[in-house]
Amino acid sequence: MNTIELNQQFTDIFFTEADATFFSPGRINLIGEHTDYNGGHVFPAAITLGTYGAARKRDDRKIRLYSANFDHLGIIEIDLDNLTFDKADNWTNYVKGVIKFLQEAGHVIETGFEAFVYGTIPNGAGLSSSASLELLIGIIAEELYGLKLDRLDLVKIGKKTENEFIGVNSGIMDQFAIGMGADNRAIYLDTNTLDYELVPLDLGDHVIVIMNTNKRRELADSKYNERRAECERAVEELNAVLNIQTLGELTSTEFDQYAYLIKDANRIKRARHAVSENERTLRALEALQAGKLEEFGRLVNASHVSLEHDYEVTGLELDTLAHTAWEQEGVLGARMTGAGFGGCGIAIVAKDKVDAFTENVGRTYTEIVGYAPSFYMAEIAGGSRVLSRK
Ligand code: GLA
Repeated sequence: MNTIELNQQFTDIFFTEADATFFSPGRINLIGEHTDYNGGHVFPAAITLGTYGAARKRDDRKIRLYSANFDHLGIIEIDLDNLTFDKADNWTNYVKGVIKFLQEAGHVIETGFEAFVYGTIPNGAGLSSSASLELLIGIIAEELYGLKLDRLDLVKIGKKTENEFIGVNSGIMDQFAIGMGADNRAIYLDTNTLDYELVPLDLGDHVIVIMNTNKRRELADSKYNERRAECERAVEELNAVLNIQTLGELTSTEFDQYAYLIKDANRIKRARHAVSENERTLRALEALQAGKLEEFGRLVNASHVSLEHDYEVTGLELDTLAHTAWEQEGVLGARMTGAGFGGCGIAIVAKDKVDAFTENVGRTYTEIVGYAPSFYMAEIAGGSRVLSRK
């Protein structure tokens, strides 16, 4: 959607002109899955699928919101004086959370606004439509109220909204990737220190294909919180002898030596994934920077194997995509991306093999799963930004 269309849509809904238009991306994660709440490394990138917005400041204390993705809900009106979670307010709870936490952080927001929102991220695809929306609202507020806002603080406010307002105990990866993304760069982030590096994503003659299972991520949030609790419990058990804050502090060798302290087979597997995935992420960065693309691809595959067998967050749909992708010509690597339990996978595929790839994977997936997957080319581009001003 371009800025002319965005402005037009805003006017069609609100009968006035927008002050500015905005874009906030979605994200994929190349490797480093379920490591961000374990003090490990992640390697995500912002993509050109995302959430568009057009907004105008109001003189009163009303916030009026319209999403073209939920057009049947019409304009939802919320109030600056009542920023509390209410299920009936649907997607606008994200808006309430961000505004509330911006205010709590000392940013002055005394009048409301109206916003038109349109997302191109398929719903429930695990490409972080919620973090994309959180950051979008953050930059809308930044622009309309002239806030002096550090990007990292906005990233943290997005995460806080997810954790404390919506109730999903997620890590910082999604908001960080979306807030800090850059053209053709992946973000190598240490989630413990928040040190990061923007790494050129040079994949030679290969492109990244996003593979959508088209399975809704049902139960994903409760399973997610369960995995997180299992890892925290494993840390407590390890601390009978060790003194660690997170699993990200351990090497595989150290973990092997102390795994006997964990009193449950599933928790051993969960913790082993967190430790091995963190190491793989570091090795993947080194491989990519050395131009060793095949090694990078094998690490991507190994990540899926660990998520399938140790972390157990894949399922028939994601496994069918990854396993079928591995068998295709021109594929460097493939894995699930994001939280899992449905959502999307990614495959790194030779440009001239993409058509055969999507045809073959699509056919096999449909045979096994019973409905078709979708494929999109991932273009890696910048983080949340203002597109135009009046
Ligand atoms: C979701 C969460 C992230 C991260 C991934 C798994 O996307 O929002 O914080 O934990 O799952 O890597």
